[in-house]
Amino acid sequence: MIKNISSRDIVPICVNGVNIVVADKQSVAAALLGAGITSTGNAQREDRETGPFCMMGVCYSCLVEIDGAQFQRGCMVEVQEDMVINTGADYESI
Ligand code: FES
Repeated sequence: MIKNISSRDIVPICVNGVNIVVADKQSVAAALLGAGITSTGNAQREDRETGPFCMMGVCYSCLVEIDGAQFQRGCMVEVQEDMVINTGADYESI
């Protein structure tokens, strides 16, 4: 079912220093994908970018920094107003 988004369903977040608005009551990973952000990190050993894949907390391909906490699974965290999200982590350091 597709739901219309009213203005009260929108929350501002900051992604990589850019302020955007996204629908609330969705995961960070879904919000990023909806905003056209498909790359969330870098897998140095495999020399490739990573991004949300399973959307259920299993693959760890959606790791992002959320409000200063590194390596959070974006698909398991609900987006919140004024959340600060940074992508582009180097997974070699995990
Ligand atoms: S997309 Fe697989 S753990 Fe988040």
